[in-house]
Amino acid sequence: MTETRKIVLSSDHGAVDLRQAIAAHLDAQGFDVTDIGPMTTESTDYPAHGQAAAEIVAAGESDLGIILCGTGQGIMMAANKVKGIRCGVCMDTFSAKMIRAHNDANMLALGARVIGENLALEIVDAFVATDFEGGRHGKRVDMIKALDI
Ligand code: RB5
Repeated sequence: MTETRKIVLSSDHGAVDLRQAIAAHLDAQGFDVTDIGPMTTESTDYPAHGQAAAEIVAAGESDLGIILCGTGQGIMMAANKVKGIRCGVCMDTFSAKMIRAHNDANMLALGARVIGENLALEIVDAFVATDFEGGRHGKRVDMIKALDI
């Protein structure tokens, strides 16, 4: 397995507690975690937080990103607008492994109002522990990359 050291986290107001639990969980495992907030539950706009984390990953300043909102969907949509980002919402561990293994996803989105903390941590563990398989999947990921404008 390629060692992944740097992971950036962000969320909107609906996922602050879960994001901080994930940050602590990853930090305890030795990952280099950057939590860019927000630090309060004051209402805020998920696109801005998805974009901020995505730009850090796209710039190569983080290996992976984990972003959260109520459903995971809105913040995922925003992150995927940033060139170089491949982000999927996962609600199960199989999907979390597969978006790394087959899609070379560099970001994971989670819905804090959809899944509980225990499942979220299992999904995060599956995501960060899985490497891209390459091979026949490389051509398909290249096709996704070619859609970046
Ligand atoms: C915020 O209320 C909510 O819309 C947001 O967290 C997210 O679920 C959007 O996709």
